Amino acid sequence: MSLTHLDQRHAIDTQQVAPFTGEGAYHGSTSKRPKTASTSAPEAVVAEMRPSTLEDYRLDTRRPIADFEATFPNLYSVEDTLPVPTQQEVRDDSVTFCWCPLPEALALASPLTRRVLEATRKHLVGDKRYVYVDSKIQYFEPGDVPVDSQHWHIDGSIVARGPVVEALGHSLLHDMKARLAGGVTPPRYLAYQSSDHCATVFATSPLTLTLAELIPSFTGLDAAVRELSPPFALQPASSIVRTDGLSLHRAQAATASGWRLWVRVVETDREVQLNSSIIECYGTVFRTSA
Ligand SMILES: [Fe+2]
Repeated sequence: MSLTHLDQRHAIDTQQVAPFTGEGAYHGSTSKRPKTASTSAPEAVVAEMRPSTLEDYRLDTRRPIADFEATFPNLYSVEDTLPVPTQQEVRDDSVTFCWCPLPEALALASPLTRRVLEATRKHLVGDKRYVYVDSKIQYFEPGDVPVDSQHWHIDGSIVARGPVVEALGHSLLHDMKARLAGGVTPPRYLAYQSSDHCATVFATSPLTLTLAELIPSFTGLDAAVRELSPPFALQPASSIVRTDGLSLHRAQAATASGWRLWVRVVETDREVQLNSSIIECYGTVFRTSA
């Protein structure tokens, strides 16, 4: 069985639904590491993903975690808008992806996803070593959330685990200073959503706030961003938008029922080789009123 793609028939009565807790991981990146989700170890740590700030704490783990002035440039631009597919076209696109290399995804994709990938690849920058595809086809009832969190966050954060992190009292820390002030080009993203009934919310102008260098979750960041209430945009139907690993965004609940195809293409220096399957539950929707 492939870990990077899944070919299945989609139907409303087989859509996986779980209770919304608000504590879930954004694409597996917050405090709880699903037992079934892991990547091959040891992974080579490339500059893009190196938790360089954590090094400052290695010799003295009793040192309080310092704050810094974090500036999120919040890159967000609509690169392309494709014809809005019908609900039937979305539902009938059977193949979805999880960290699938782009050439493989192009070869395997169903018609709608293939059109999206063909359009998306024209916008790749090409300065990173790997290009991976994630996609989901989900049916939402009003109020359903596509992931188990609505927190403002960044994608592909620099996650550290291990003895130093544990000595600091955590099982996981996001090295926000390394990503925001480390001087290394973050991962680049191009994301597509077929419709706007469950549109991702993107901050659209630079935002500076005081933030801990290392954070155990996005909860505090979310509260700080909500307090500042930055300008935002909702991703338009059938658009391809460009963001990067410094772009604040969040999920929101669906405003209407219907199918949605979501595709995200990432350009990254980090090699990802899945060694267990997370794709079966990737398309779960989270219901607040379940
Ligand atoms: Fe995200």
